Amino acid sequence: MHWLIVGGGAIGTALGRTLSEQGDSADLVSTSDQNGLPDGVTHQQLDSWEWANVHQCISDLNQLPDRVVITCGLLWQGEQQPEKRLEDLTPEHLINSLNANTLAPMAVLQALTRRLQRQSRLQALVLTAKVGSISDNRLGGWYSYRATKAATNMLIRTTAIEWARRFPDCAVGAYHPGTTISDLSSPFQARVPEGQLKSAADAAQCLCATMSKVSPATTGQFWNWDGSTLPW
Ligand SMILES: NC(=O)c1ccc[n+]([C@@H]2O[C@H](COP(=O)([O-])OP(=O)(O)OC[C@H]3O[C@@H](n4cnc5c(N)ncnc54)[C@H](OP(=O)(O)O)[C@@H]3O)[C@@H](O)[C@H]2O)c1
Repeated sequence: MHWLIVGGGAIGTALGRTLSEQGDSADLVSTSDQNGLPDGVTHQQLDSWEWANVHQCISDLNQLPDRVVITCGLLWQGEQQPEKRLEDLTPEHLINSLNANTLAPMAVLQALTRRLQRQSRLQALVLTAKVGSISDNRLGGWYSYRATKAATNMLIRTTAIEWARRFPDCAVGAYHPGTTISDLSSPFQARVPEGQLKSAADAAQCLCATMSKVSPATTGQFWNWDGSTLPW
């Protein structure tokens, strides 16, 4: 099995290690440097997460993957923490969040779509977040993250409908990895109840298990880390 991992953060790199251990190969696309990647994982350096760069990188891949996992994302940056109230919302953070959480994953899906043929078989999961569920939003806050993950959920669902028509053996879904130790979650880990914070290695194992459920029969779902489905 050949995989494409987009994003070289905690979950992306842990997934690379898991795949290597199980004897799979992968291309790992990231802007960050990657040293000491395990056997079978090849780094594809990205200059920036801009749409055109992402497109070019995916178009240039030698091998079309069997499975794709898109892990790029942004919750906070420097002094800019997730918004607690509406007055905290800034156009800059909303646009930066949109670029990382929505545009970058969609550039990948669009570039892959251009390479698909009617008989292609591809399984894809895009890491969004449970807080991107509109019907599950009971706490409020985190305006930019919630909104841009919700936008991505809608784009994934729409892509699934189109793929089912044009590429009936392909499948795509949104995926919530559960709260996982990483830079992204670092300011919020202390609030997570005991036993509910995952290591990136555990998150990668769960991802692989759910990926095996992604099929044309289940395309267009919003998956939770335990293999159940979430409301949009
Ligand atoms: N960790 C959690 O608790 C949790 C919970 C729910 C959902 N998620 C989602 O899971 C995914 C993976 O998160 P993670 O925990 O592995 O976080 P992470 O270690 O912080 O990795 C996120 C990666 O996103 C990329 N990125 C950073 N800034 C970006 C930008 N401005 N534009 C585009 N990409 C950018 C970077 O990739 P490069 O290194 O390749 O440049 C970064 O390594 C994210 O989509 C996140 O929203 C995580």
